[in-house]
Amino acid sequence: MGKPRVTIAALAGNRMIYFWFLGLLSSPGCAAPVSETFTVSVKSPVSVQRGQTAILPCWLTPSQSAEDMEVRWNHWNDEFDTPVLLYKGRTFDNSSQKASYAGRVSFGLKEETSGGLKAGDVSLKLENVTIEDAGKYICYVSSSEDYDSASISLSVTETGRSPLLSAVMKDDNKVNMSCQSDGWHPKPELSWSDSKKALIPANVSFSKNSAGFYSVHSWVLVSSPSEVSCSVGLFNEAPKEARMHLGNPPPLQEESGFSAGWVAFGILLVAVLAALGALYFLYFRKKANKSKSGNDATDDNEPLLSAATWKPATPSEASKYYENVQLVDTGNPLITIQGSILRENINAKFPDGDRVTCLTVVRGSPGFSSGRHYWEVSLETANIDLLKTSWWIGVTDKHEIPHDDSFPPTKKNGFWFLSSCPKQEDTLHFNTEPETFIHVQSKPKTVGVYLDFDNRELSFYNVEEKCWIGSLAAKFTGEVFPLFNPGKGDPGTMKILPRPAQDQSNNTEPVAKLQKEQED
Ligand SMILES: *[C@@H]1O[C@H](CO)[C@@H](O)[C@H](O)[C@H]1NC(C)=O
Ligand SMILES: *[C@@H]1O[C@H](CO)[C@@H](O)[C@H](O)[C@H]1NC(C)=O
Repeated sequence: MGKPRVTIAALAGNRMIYFWFLGLLSSPGCAAPVSETFTVSVKSPVSVQRGQTAILPCWLTPSQSAEDMEVRWNHWNDEFDTPVLLYKGRTFDNSSQKASYAGRVSFGLKEETSGGLKAGDVSLKLENVTIEDAGKYICYVSSSEDYDSASISLSVTETGRSPLLSAVMKDDNKVNMSCQSDGWHPKPELSWSDSKKALIPANVSFSKNSAGFYSVHSWVLVSSPSEVSCSVGLFNEAPKEARMHLGNPPPLQEESGFSAGWVAFGILLVAVLAALGALYFLYFRKKANKSKSGNDATDDNEPLLSAATWKPATPSEASKYYENVQLVDTGNPLITIQGSILRENINAKFPDGDRVTCLTVVRGSPGFSSGRHYWEVSLETANIDLLKTSWWIGVTDKHEIPHDDSFPPTKKNGFWFLSSCPKQEDTLHFNTEPETFIHVQSKPKTVGVYLDFDNRELSFYNVEEKCWIGSLAAKFTGEVFPLFNPGKGDPGTMKILPRPAQDQSNNTEPVAKLQKEQED
């Protein structure tokens, strides 16, 4: 049997590669019947997320079996004789296959009902797609009577990390906002806006790391106070956004004695992308009076959670430090405590009206004065489809919570917490000064609290979404205790979740393990 010999002519700038059949047909003198000719059709371009499975649709028209044909898939950049996939003699010939595709390719279905090879569907299924896989592929099919080919472009996308915003205060009430986002493919688009209009960045620059992923960096000068957003995204996907609300710095004297010479200003960063959306919250300080020294030396040790140097613990790292936390029942009539479950006493008369104040705060035990600790609080009420919307979760250094509705629960007064604003579906809040609001896509069902006492950080996680909500730089002195507040006008419960049994394996989601434990 004469094997068809094939050469390729690539027509520059053309989408198609043409193959000329120089060999002899296997049955000399036998003209191919019209029914045995075919055209190779493709659907192009194809876009796939890195790590996913790509189907490059390629099929014969009219529909006919390709089982006895030779099917060859090649990457445009590769030598013709190192195919991605070669099927001939009714089997796969892997002898010359390009090594990087070994074990990752097979025939796929252009659609579920296509009928596969028998019906002329020779689509390429490529698993665990890598950045290097991007480019043009050629689908080539030959029978003893006919041959044809067509090309498909495959673009491989990787959604990068949520942008990280940072801000540096300039002298003239201007703020230099920087936006940085890593891990994209191909190059992402970046845009800035304030609450009303697009902002023109002073600079946008890209860099590419050795693994082929792009980073983008940009900065823009804005006036303070304002709300600024930086969006980074690929053409075909919803962008990831970080938003920052620049508050007014508090007056200097309020900070004196605590961190004199520094102005703290809270910054809100928001990343909006459902599951992946990590929320970055950074706390920046500006040295307001460089002439002050002495005491300032210690203040230099205040945590500065900056994008360049600081990364939060991942949810699975944090949950390695899972603690069993108990509620301390002081007989507060405004609160109902049953074991690890806490709710407001709906029959109580609240002296603080609708406001959520310290009067309903419950502290937990044990207290912590070193090390790392993690606990989880469920905000779902058992057996009812009710998500708690009014709550505070954090830590306090108060052994006894002041029974005073006018006591300000600020960082300065030893309160560090994340809270949920019941009337705003998409807003969480940090008790910074000025206050910091975070916009989230949905409120967490379970909040993970990670206290890194020694590094003076308090981080919060959305347990179900496995993402970071935000972190506070916290200047702890002495012992701190878990803090809970079931809020107001919200019959839902807060439940401190016990440490899952067999906490050795950190790869399993704690909540899943917990449910298992309860079933057992
Ligand atoms: C794809 O990647 C996953 C996880 O990295 C691995 O378990 C699997 O074996 C890979 N599949 C192929 C076909 O390489
Ligand atoms: C703003 O910050 C960037 C670094 O993020 C820096 O390169 C740039 O020079 C700064 N611009 C001004 C005007 O300070």
